[in-house]
Amino acid sequence: MCGIVGYVGSKNAQDVLLSGLAKLEYRGYDSAGIAIYENGEVKISKTVGRLAALESMLADSPLSGKVGIGHTRWATHGKPSDENAHPHAGCASDFAVVHNGIIENYQQLKDRLMVAGHRFVSETDTEIIAHLLEEHWTGELFATVLKVLKEVRGAYALAIMTQRDPGKLVAVRKHSPLVIGLGQGENFCASDIPALLGYTRDVLIMEEGEIALITDAAVECFDLSGRPLEKKVFQVTWDAVAAEKGGFDHYMLKEIHEQPRAVRDTMSGRLSEDGKRVTLPEIKWPDGFVQTWDRIHIVAAGTSYHAGLVGKAVIESLTRIPVDVEIASEYRYRDPILTAHTLVIVISQSGETADTLAALRISKERGVRVLAITNVVGSSVAREADDVIVTWAGPEISVASTKAYTTQLIALYLLALYLGQERGRLGAEFVADFLEDMRELPKRLEEILGSSPWIERTAKDFSVWEDAFFLGRGTDYAVALEGALKYKEISYIHAEAYPAGELKHGTLALVVEGVPVIALVTVDALYEKSVSNIKEVKARGAHVLAISWAGDEEIGKSADRVLYIPRTRAELAPVLLVLPLQLLAYYASVARGNDVDKPRNLAKSVTVE
Ligand code: AGP
Repeated sequence: MCGIVGYVGSKNAQDVLLSGLAKLEYRGYDSAGIAIYENGEVKISKTVGRLAALESMLADSPLSGKVGIGHTRWATHGKPSDENAHPHAGCASDFAVVHNGIIENYQQLKDRLMVAGHRFVSETDTEIIAHLLEEHWTGELFATVLKVLKEVRGAYALAIMTQRDPGKLVAVRKHSPLVIGLGQGENFCASDIPALLGYTRDVLIMEEGEIALITDAAVECFDLSGRPLEKKVFQVTWDAVAAEKGGFDHYMLKEIHEQPRAVRDTMSGRLSEDGKRVTLPEIKWPDGFVQTWDRIHIVAAGTSYHAGLVGKAVIESLTRIPVDVEIASEYRYRDPILTAHTLVIVISQSGETADTLAALRISKERGVRVLAITNVVGSSVAREADDVIVTWAGPEISVASTKAYTTQLIALYLLALYLGQERGRLGAEFVADFLEDMRELPKRLEEILGSSPWIERTAKDFSVWEDAFFLGRGTDYAVALEGALKYKEISYIHAEAYPAGELKHGTLALVVEGVPVIALVTVDALYEKSVSNIKEVKARGAHVLAISWAGDEEIGKSADRVLYIPRTRAELAPVLLVLPLQLLAYYASVARGNDVDKPRNLAKSVTVE
């Protein structure tokens, strides 16, 4: 999730771009750059590092012009580096492109362009746009961009300029946000509203598949077939801080709502052209390597550990390879049994958790192959692992991890399918059906988000209690653990998760009249058992919220409250089931007046033991 800014007007574009990028650093900050039209040429200044590094570069060699684009990067394809920083130019350096998103078919396009003689300087997917502009040049920027987009597949917000057609910007939105700012004798584009607030509050929100031609005098919007569109001006009333949260009260709620997009992004670029097979282009295992493993260790902490528990279930189910899931701080000290036939998978949103990094290093010292699933491309875990699957959740600001968890699950599902495919255990039809169900997840997540008001009311009722119990069987228990962690870490209520069958072995002594019990009931094969556990706690006076599949007509006879979620295939249930629990924790924390995004005693990344 990167930050884009564009400007056409009478001010010094460099100042406008840098101030806009400063408001977008929360969207990504491993490198930054600007391009400005100066004395008939497109001049680019860019560098790895935070925005401050670019500002000091420009302090020494400023760019002077009134048209420009800028970018702050959250790496997806290609490590953080000067070369991979945006803007990107083509061979002749007379175009400049900034991009947020993922070009799914960039490798095929890049291969074709290289055969045609184009020379690439970066590892990014974005750079192919600049070379395609050169290849399709019609004499006019807007028409050329329309032609180029016919070849490009994936998610993109783009801002483009060229010295061949000066005084103009073209901005495009497809699956990545982009807004237009309207000024007097000047106009803007940006990934998000905060970048504009210093200059204008009159905004056009670009919708999916829209393209805009921006000059200092006018903004014209079209669909991608070139049909003109009339758009309503949106008056922004938010203050700058609220704007960074996209109008949400907290980053956590914003990140919860980003999950449909994050899940979609994490799948993109990892499937075959027909969408029926998993490709994982970032995995460079030698031929036959995948057949050699007879055991997998998944090692992580906190929420990432909980994602690993779901990973165990799905990898074992689809590949029959035994999987152990381990707490990193225990694993690093217990002299684990590792052989040449063990694959170690470390999961870490930040890629900097000390215990997880230590587990990675121990595994590598023993000569074991390590695969990392992480959300930060330039992180220590990403750099030191042998292979990396990046979750494209974008920066996760709130201490309570949400979109990182669901995108970790997506990465684990893709890995399990890939292993099953490559080991000959999964038929093509099964994989295609599974992927079809995965592609439906964003829509189902949106449906569940619609239940937020009901969940908020329930959370308020539950928030007066100092205890809460989360129950589940099978993968419902893995999700219950994540729900309890979310709940306790931001509401400060004592919350515990138990395998539902474990209650009678002690915990039932804690169940008193009215105490909230959240029972997860999506594992069909264990449905009757789960219902009897609900009756067990009800008999001791508990107040039970059950979360079950839509259409379940029985559960309401046992539970006090029921939240129904849209059905999906059994293996994918955790992706949907966690969402109500994230919202329950969020609203309980709000009800108790806590600092939701920065809960007491906790840090976003535990980089020390
Ligand atoms: C999650 O809500 C917590 N903030 C915490 O448990 C976190 O998941 C854990 O510290 C691991 O972090 P990592 O994924 O960055 O390694």
